Amino acid sequence: FTAEALAGGGTGPLYLRLKSLIRGAIDKGALTAQDALPSEREIASQLDISRVTVRKALTELVDEGVLTQKRGSGTYVTGQGQRVEQRLSRLTSFTEDMLARGLMPSVKWLQKTVASPSPDEAMVLALSPNERVIRLRRLRMADGRPMALELAVVPARMLASPDAVGSSLYEALQTAGIRPVRAMQRLSAESLSAEDAEALSVPAGSPALYIERISYLADGRAVEFTKSHYRGDAYDFVVELTTSG
Ligand code: GLP
Repeated sequence: FTAEALAGGGTGPLYLRLKSLIRGAIDKGALTAQDALPSEREIASQLDISRVTVRKALTELVDEGVLTQKRGSGTYVTGQGQRVEQRLSRLTSFTEDMLARGLMPSVKWLQKTVASPSPDEAMVLALSPNERVIRLRRLRMADGRPMALELAVVPARMLASPDAVGSSLYEALQTAGIRPVRAMQRLSAESLSAEDAEALSVPAGSPALYIERISYLADGRAVEFTKSHYRGDAYDFVVELTTSG
């Protein structure tokens, strides 16, 4: 990184210019996956800017998944096949989570039907007798790499038809004017069945995170009951803990 390149990066705040300098180096291939960046101090003195500015740029790039920080050993360009982090405190969709990390989400549909609910689905979604559900079973991928197997169950009255869902359920709900605002999520450890492991391209018995999410609309109605199996080697769920509140 040179001070000239930074000066040539426009007139915005310095940390933003440094961010685009680093992103540019990655795009041009000057920095590739797993490469170590110079230390915060080195970048600051090379560019003649403050360490606070460097830290701010690096922290944001880490939050965006472009860089990875390893305790005690520095900052690296995030590699393919590295773990994806998902903050646990925000209600986001798989599609949003992957795009925020610069990964391309894709879907392989396994089931997309209208069906009668199982007793637990009827209970969780507080369905009236004889109400039907839309059952969406998908393999979810990021940059072509299998990440999660997911079964989402939605009351049929919420969407015009199963085909209203293109690749993103939350996008389809939004188009229908429906927005989940709150969710309960439960995580537990599991080892994958032979069938699920095969779909996720890992050996049978591999560790996974089993996640159940029930999302609610502002009026308190449940909108989805989703059961997901996230590959244990591909995902970190990260939660911020504070002492107040
Ligand atoms: C995550 C959640 C699911 C939710 C899905 C929506 O994967 N675990 O409960 O249904 O996101 O994602 P999308 O809108 O990409 O289908």
